[in-house]
Amino acid sequence: MQHNRVVSRAPGRVNLIGEHTDYNDGFVLPMGLPFATEIDWTRTTGREATIESSGFDDITFSLDDDPKDVPSWGKYLAGMASFLAADGIPVEGFRAVVQTDIPIGAALSSSAALEVAAGFGLYGLAGIEPDPVAIAKVGQRVENEIVGVNSGILDQLISATATADSLTLIDCRSLETRAITVPERARVVIMDTMTRRELVDTEYDRRRESCERAAASIGVAALRDASLDDVAQISDPLDRQRAHHVVTENQRVHDTIDALAADDLTLVGELMNESHRSLSVDYEVSSPALDQMAAFAREEPSCFGARMTGGGFAGSAVALIDATATDAFVQSVRERWQEANGVLPDLWAVDPSPGASVRVLDA
Ligand code: GLA
Repeated sequence: MQHNRVVSRAPGRVNLIGEHTDYNDGFVLPMGLPFATEIDWTRTTGREATIESSGFDDITFSLDDDPKDVPSWGKYLAGMASFLAADGIPVEGFRAVVQTDIPIGAALSSSAALEVAAGFGLYGLAGIEPDPVAIAKVGQRVENEIVGVNSGILDQLISATATADSLTLIDCRSLETRAITVPERARVVIMDTMTRRELVDTEYDRRRESCERAAASIGVAALRDASLDDVAQISDPLDRQRAHHVVTENQRVHDTIDALAADDLTLVGELMNESHRSLSVDYEVSSPALDQMAAFAREEPSCFGARMTGGGFAGSAVALIDATATDAFVQSVRERWQEANGVLPDLWAVDPSPGASVRVLDA
């Protein structure tokens, strides 16, 4: 049964480890955040869609328009509506009121949350039980084909499938997920450098091309299938360096799972530190601000480890710390950052939070 009014919600994410592995068919270990995008949908008649959000001009488009022609962030909803309709989900006119508390540009996946919230809402209006994996894949297509960034499935899949109280191990080839528990004495803290990335999407696509070239040159489908011996056979030095990051990062994800199961938080922290070093030196997607934030975090006695998170170049770092020292950690890092940079950064201690949902508000 179709519905006239639904509210959908999808969280942002933070990735604990497994960076730039998703588009290499590899492994990632993210969690859903307590920050989310919520969309209040009302069915209208006809083919017109209107999006409202406080602080932004309304965006109106026809469901028959090419989503690429829809202005600004309206593209994300228009793209979701267009691809879902093509996949057989009945999509009709709507008014969508969007609000979010996910910091924009902080590498916490605000755009994936918008896509996934749109997917859940459009399934909800159509009266169909949302398919989280299908919605995540459509979200990725919107990034790739409408927005024009060749990103992987990490952000959309965790926003759609996250579970409360645990990290999620995602196999980005099979798209299988497994809940991974974090020991209670540990806390995840996000540290926003308040820097934002500009014009670096070409860098992202370049990394991906490098990986694909590297995989082809050693005859594997994706770098997920490569060993360090294979990496040594890659003749192009830069492609070899990029591949070295990916192959070692996949191994670090597995080692992190084992270390968490063994309650060895010191080792988890070392793996996070090593991940940062590899992203900074081999993959070259860190920045002075991200390096400095991770370093400040590590200098706190309560910190097990810290690294940049997400695509890189700007945004946030993530730390794993002793939960009993959360307040002192947050205060100290904020003060030291402000002293060094003259800006007060946002820090959030976050618990793993549930993935997307939709609820029906019909009378
Ligand atoms: C961005 C992309 C993801 C993933 C990360 C890096 O967040 O959207 O697909 O590649 O970067 O791990």
